[in-house]
Amino acid sequence: MRPARKESQDSSAAASAVKDSTFGARHVAIIMDGNGRWAKKKHLPRALGHKKGVEAVRNIVRVAGETGIEVLTLYAFSSENWNRPRDEISDLMGLLRQYIQSDIEEFVENGIKLKVIGNYKGLEPDIVRLIEGALDRTAGNDRMTLAIALNYGAQDEIIRAVQTIAGAVQQGDVEPDKINAGHIADALDTADLPPLDLLIRTSGELRLSNFLLWQAAYSELYFTDVLWPDFDKRELQKALRSFGDRQRRFGGR
Ligand code: FPP
Repeated sequence: MRPARKESQDSSAAASAVKDSTFGARHVAIIMDGNGRWAKKKHLPRALGHKKGVEAVRNIVRVAGETGIEVLTLYAFSSENWNRPRDEISDLMGLLRQYIQSDIEEFVENGIKLKVIGNYKGLEPDIVRLIEGALDRTAGNDRMTLAIALNYGAQDEIIRAVQTIAGAVQQGDVEPDKINAGHIADALDTADLPPLDLLIRTSGELRLSNFLLWQAAYSELYFTDVLWPDFDKRELQKALRSFGDRQRRFGGR
């Protein structure tokens, strides 16, 4: 009996240590903005800003795992990013390719489960294959979920959810006047993720840019002037501390 009891004390101590370092935030999302301005400030090409942005991604994924965050959702490529010059799109796709290829082993070793939200099947076929291979290889992991938003737009996600629900209505599986928030949440790309606790945006812009519009209904928002390539462990901890200081009321008093 004793060892079992000690084990449960140990695991509850571990759980409360995690809660201390995340301040209770299970699901954190980041709008990673400012790569271009970071490069401009240093008189470097924009492509180098994005390259440095990937290094920041790599670091924050490690830090988030160590901190005990359950889900980290990163806005890597929006459905509106196709409007950027062709060269820049190709740089970003090249970086994505490299990132998945070089970090997949680390995901496997560190128990990171990869998830992709957005219409990723609209990306180049070799990237779709890479993504699907990585989803497959990491499907059984459960230490942290890394959800990457690719070819993602929240309005598009909501439209796709409405289409799914309309299909269910057509099949006679749900009555139109019985459709509720649960049906919509279940039809979104994030259906299997915990509620979004904290949404961070770097680089001083104060908008959501079509990211997680439904999911952010009751999340805490944190805006920082720090440019994405400079966003590090200290900055994430600052954001989490700020989250810990908030009083979440979810519409109540
Ligand atoms: C914004 O910088 C950043 C993006 C376009 C998306 C973030 C992309 C990365 C961090 C690199 C690729 C990511 C992965 C996961 C491989 P910006 O160009 O809008 O900066 P600016 O507003 O200063 O010009």
